[in-house]
Amino acid sequence: MDIDGKLYKRFLTRQEQYMKQHEDAVNEKQHSKGKLTAAERIELLFDPDTFEEIDAFSKPMLPGSGEFGKIISAYGDGVIIGHGKIGGRVAFVYAQDFTIMGGSLGSVHATKIAKIQDMALKMGAPMIGLIDSGGARIQEGVASLAGYASIFHRNVKSSGVIPQISVIMGPAAGGAVYSPALTDFVFMTNKTSYMFVTGPNVVKEVLNENVTFDELGGANIHMQKSGVAQFVYEDEENTIRGVQKLLSYLPSNNLENPPLVDCGDRDERIEEKLRDIVPDDPNKPYDIKEIINLIIDKGTFFEVSENYAQNIVIGFARLRGKSIGILSNQPKVLAGVLDINSSVKGARFIRFCDAFNIPILTLEDVPGFLPGMDQEHNGIIRHGAKLLYAYSDSTVPKITVILRKSYGGAYCVMNSKNLGGDFNFAWPTAEIAVMGPEGAVSILFRKDLAESDDPDKLKKKLAVKYREEIANPFVADEKGYIDEVIDPADTRRKLIAAFEALENKHVSVPSRKHGNIPL
Ligand code: HXC
Repeated sequence: MDIDGKLYKRFLTRQEQYMKQHEDAVNEKQHSKGKLTAAERIELLFDPDTFEEIDAFSKPMLPGSGEFGKIISAYGDGVIIGHGKIGGRVAFVYAQDFTIMGGSLGSVHATKIAKIQDMALKMGAPMIGLIDSGGARIQEGVASLAGYASIFHRNVKSSGVIPQISVIMGPAAGGAVYSPALTDFVFMTNKTSYMFVTGPNVVKEVLNENVTFDELGGANIHMQKSGVAQFVYEDEENTIRGVQKLLSYLPSNNLENPPLVDCGDRDERIEEKLRDIVPDDPNKPYDIKEIINLIIDKGTFFEVSENYAQNIVIGFARLRGKSIGILSNQPKVLAGVLDINSSVKGARFIRFCDAFNIPILTLEDVPGFLPGMDQEHNGIIRHGAKLLYAYSDSTVPKITVILRKSYGGAYCVMNSKNLGGDFNFAWPTAEIAVMGPEGAVSILFRKDLAESDDPDKLKKKLAVKYREEIANPFVADEKGYIDEVIDPADTRRKLIAAFEALENKHVSVPSRKHGNIPL
């Protein structure tokens, strides 16, 4: 090659200009807002020296002449795309560059994202979007909107085939929020990221309400109230570490199993503490996470949606080095009752685990569904059915351990045997029945209680009898609805053996286009 020749010089000049573009971004625009640049984020995300950029030199489509024809003609058109390795496995990325026209999405920008989405799908590798964008590029009009639609279409085609992760690291406004919403997990960085369909200005105009960006669509709002974001971290570096951690539990695609990570924990570890955590008093709360952490490989619980619908706890963990998804009621919050938000949270998690071959462990202590006008009027029937549907439709190995309460519809929903549970265990403290003792006694002995001189005493006496005769695990065990009543201390070993037995589980499903989950 003639390295003094014109073409080689042009090649070098372009490289220099491109480097300068990145340096300007660092100095002038992003760091002053407490944000990293797109290139810095990518460097943090991938294993050292593994990232390869493509289409670095693409230029924006010029929308035409006139007042709105002036756009900045920067290399890359405001988005970096490429591939690299994360934890030694291939992943694809797009990272929007806010320093180029606010990371706005024009047609070339969109075509680049669509290209990398196509590659990720074809190669069967995770697709990660680092989003920092003012949304559809106003100057490019309908071409920008079409660009978004092409991205959404690919999000849906990839759903359940490759893990898709959206990381919001700046604005995500307007229709731009819908690509993240279609992906499997949304990460946000506190204070510097926000998501909303219509911004504070529109809210003011239409509703005459004053709200800040953070109040309307900040990270904590989406983590705690809307449930849109599953993970929030205080800075960008930790947000990216969170993405890497999540990926370590997941397979690259739906045809693979999750990676095996030896955690050095003993299979047969007996945990005597487990015998004492569930209080004798059925109305006393306890923290389900204490139980989770004693059962799984030490230190491997990675909670999802930690601050949303906290009456259900979901997350990934490892058992004998293998990824599992855990779904458990949380007696510490609202007594672990199932309501609309916890049903939807649980259902979506089950769908994800099932799509990506991650076995599901259910730890159950649930008094039932939350009663009341608010829940009924807002559709607890429809939303509760999602959880039922998701459990029933899933074919990965599924194990339930009933720790304490398992009453009514909630018994059926939480992966009961007849809903498709593969192994259903119970601790001796389990209470399995159509309803709790007080409710049952009030209905069955209404007349006796009305006629009694001391109805409270009679009620208590009957409640004790009810527990002895009906609401205990032994009746269910003897009838085969429970496979075994187990010693709590031995739960880890039992689960490891059961999941091992299920390793080659295969279920054939009837041919259909798709089911009709109650949305
Ligand atoms: C073109 C844009 C842009 C956009 C920002 N910029 N958004 N250019 N199209 N959508 C440019 C600005 O003109 C500015 O250019 C630079 O990016 C930085 O923007 P600033 O406003 O200076 O930054 P900041 O103060 O941090 O405010 C960020 C922002 C604001 C809140 C995101 O820019 C904003 O409100 N943008 C519009 C958001 C929006 O409504 N987007 C359309 C949503 S509708 P200069 O040259 O001055 O540096 C949508 C439809 C999708 O997305 C439909 C899909 C179904």
